[in-house]
Amino acid sequence: MKDFLKDWEEVSFVIFYGSQLGQAKSIAEGLVDVAEENDFKTKAFELNAIKDVNDLTKLTCPVVIVTSTTGDGEPPENADKFWRKIRKKALSPTALQSLKYTLLGLGDTNYNNFCNCGKEINRRLQGLSASTFYAPAWADDAIGLELVVDSWIENLWPALESIIRPDSNQSITTMAKTLTVPSCPAVSLKLEWLEDGSGDASTPSKVDLRNPLAPYPLIEDDPVAVKLTKARVLSRSGALKTAVELTVEFSEQSFKFEPGDAINIVCPNPINEVNQLLERLQLLGKAKRTLQLSVKEGTKGKIPVFLPATITLLDAFLYYFDIRSCPKKIFLRLLAEYTSEENEKSKLLELCSRQGSTAFEETIRFASLSLLDLLLTFPSCMPPVEALLEHLPRLIPRAYSISSSPLTNANEFTFAFNVATFSKENGRQYERLGICTGWLSQKGRSLLKKSSSGSDNIDSDLDAAMSALTIKSENEDVDSNEEIIVYRRKNQNFRLPEDIKAPIVMVGPGTGVAPFIGFIQHRAILKEKGESAGDMFLYFGCRYKAKDFLYEDELKSFENGGLTKFYPVFSRDDPQATVKYVQHRMDENKQEVIETLFNQGGYLYVCGDAKNMAKDVRDVLIKCVQSVKEVSEGEAKTLVAELATQKRYLQDIWS
Ligand SMILES: Cc1cc2nc3c(=O)[nH]c(=O)nc-3n(C[C@H](O)[C@H](O)[C@H](O)COP(=O)(O)OP(=O)(O)OC[C@H]3O[C@@H](n4cnc5c(N)ncnc54)[C@H](O)[C@@H]3O)c2cc1C
Ligand SMILES: Cc1cc2nc3c(=O)[nH]c(=O)nc-3n(C[C@H](O)[C@H](O)[C@H](O)COP(=O)(O)O)c2cc1C
Repeated sequence: MKDFLKDWEEVSFVIFYGSQLGQAKSIAEGLVDVAEENDFKTKAFELNAIKDVNDLTKLTCPVVIVTSTTGDGEPPENADKFWRKIRKKALSPTALQSLKYTLLGLGDTNYNNFCNCGKEINRRLQGLSASTFYAPAWADDAIGLELVVDSWIENLWPALESIIRPDSNQSITTMAKTLTVPSCPAVSLKLEWLEDGSGDASTPSKVDLRNPLAPYPLIEDDPVAVKLTKARVLSRSGALKTAVELTVEFSEQSFKFEPGDAINIVCPNPINEVNQLLERLQLLGKAKRTLQLSVKEGTKGKIPVFLPATITLLDAFLYYFDIRSCPKKIFLRLLAEYTSEENEKSKLLELCSRQGSTAFEETIRFASLSLLDLLLTFPSCMPPVEALLEHLPRLIPRAYSISSSPLTNANEFTFAFNVATFSKENGRQYERLGICTGWLSQKGRSLLKKSSSGSDNIDSDLDAAMSALTIKSENEDVDSNEEIIVYRRKNQNFRLPEDIKAPIVMVGPGTGVAPFIGFIQHRAILKEKGESAGDMFLYFGCRYKAKDFLYEDELKSFENGGLTKFYPVFSRDDPQATVKYVQHRMDENKQEVIETLFNQGGYLYVCGDAKNMAKDVRDVLIKCVQSVKEVSEGEAKTLVAELATQKRYLQDIWS
């Protein structure tokens, strides 16, 4: 980790970032590039580089903080130590009175604690007498970070100008104009093709996904290889999404878990998409040749920390880079630099400009276009591969909630997922499945093939989903391999209460029901052993009872044992129904919900796809508190916030 105290004297302001998946980091790095263009010198450091909060008083220059929030309102991993330090009560209330700062918080309003990390840091800095030179802002990933980020950055420069160079007559408008299109990110990597068979150096580093060069995000225990043993399709014919459950096996010593834990699965990109990408870059012929990367002399770039410096292009794109994630504006700027046809170039420049924010949202982000989509849309764009190797984000393992209890079997667990499918429309140039769910469903399909007597008996839904693919894996060896690499995710608050008698309310529509299967199994077994478990209420929702009622048999059987009450709700079965979604059912049962949570010390768990559901559940909960407890909206919000602070309102949501 860089030491900011060694470097700050050379700069006109310092940037600190806290970033889990790279968005805040890339904004911070973008600021470094644009700062230079505006005659400012700056450097970006992780927030954890601040070893002692008092060191901030040694800075005589302003500070810009960009931080996201992760988990359930928690700081990203590279900001957690700073977060702990700054909250220490022993700090003097005037400790940071000389500090001038501003802060950009990234968050998502689907989560309970919107921008909690940024807001807490801001509150604490104020409490330590630091002052802002420019108003902090909160960007919402649910609607598009750009909506806040672009204008905040645009106005940051004049604010910095007035504090750093108060006498300068550089016009603000000139600076704003320069900012219309971000400056092109530098390409500092040099690529050298090694002669095949010319000795050790030409042997690519072995791809070792269990021992990555840089730790995977949110890693709790070392990655382990586990074996897929069973697959079943949970949805039925005609369901909008195909839901699959996989079972994995391992030795009890190698992997330990509790109900509610989530695992991260290390997955590769689809081989055909990688081949198509290499073909488009006119590099297919060199896909398996070994290359060596180095940093051009006199430049500041670096080889991505997660990438072996000696590798084949095929391995680099298969295992290390996210070739699917939606490109950021700064990446479009890079592509524009290597686009020869004028119309195409100006379109790319428009899309990455400040003025092009709406077009960017509507054409790039809405359809979540991939790198390959863009290269197929802009045929004259031919970026050098080293530019891609320097600027593409890392391929990140995907998270899945464990849907079983170790009391049922400590040597295996199950998890469930919807196969993500994206059709060829809205600018997407090819049909595709989700990177991880596509790969897993292929493995599931091959397991089903093996377990059935012949391919005719394969589950037709999974088969249909797989054969609908345009880009299919050609590499059956890879995809039928039953071993997958997983690790347990950090920040596990989503667990059963320690007190087995505490009642719980579980809200899990769709695959969000997964962890609750584990919860119910767990308590049911403890009950069988003679323990008296608290009440368990489950709210489950889906579209059609006949098509996507996941775990229907298990849930019904739990009604005779583990579950106190089960409240399923189907949104499309009856067009006249007013009770369509889980939150409507909760509203109907408000007396029971509020009694359980507020009078009996109960816990509320919400799990599933975050798009609106988690927010709607929170809004209804506030309404229920207001109505049952006869309090104002403000008081109800405070009571709900207290529930979250006491870790009795827990969410495991994704979007
Ligand atoms: C803590 C946690 C627990 C989770 N548990 C589960 C679980 O139990 N079950 C489960 O199924 N999932 C779960 N998820 C979600 C899961 O991790 C993956 O995000 C999901 O399975 C998709 O992964 P993928 O690689 O298949 O898709 P990707 O290839 O990553 O595709 C998803 C991408 O598609 C893009 N996209 C989204 N909507 C559209 C659209 N309409 N058009 C175009 N592109 C779009 C998005 O930008 C996203 O990046 C969980 C996530 C978290 C954080
Ligand atoms: C697992 C996970 C948990 C999150 N938790 C929160 C949260 O509690 N509050 C919030 O405002 N945003 C939350 N977010 C949204 C992120 O803060 C937001 O997407 C941000 O842009 C990510 O930036 P980063 O890539 O720099 O980490 C969460 C995102 C993920 C993936």
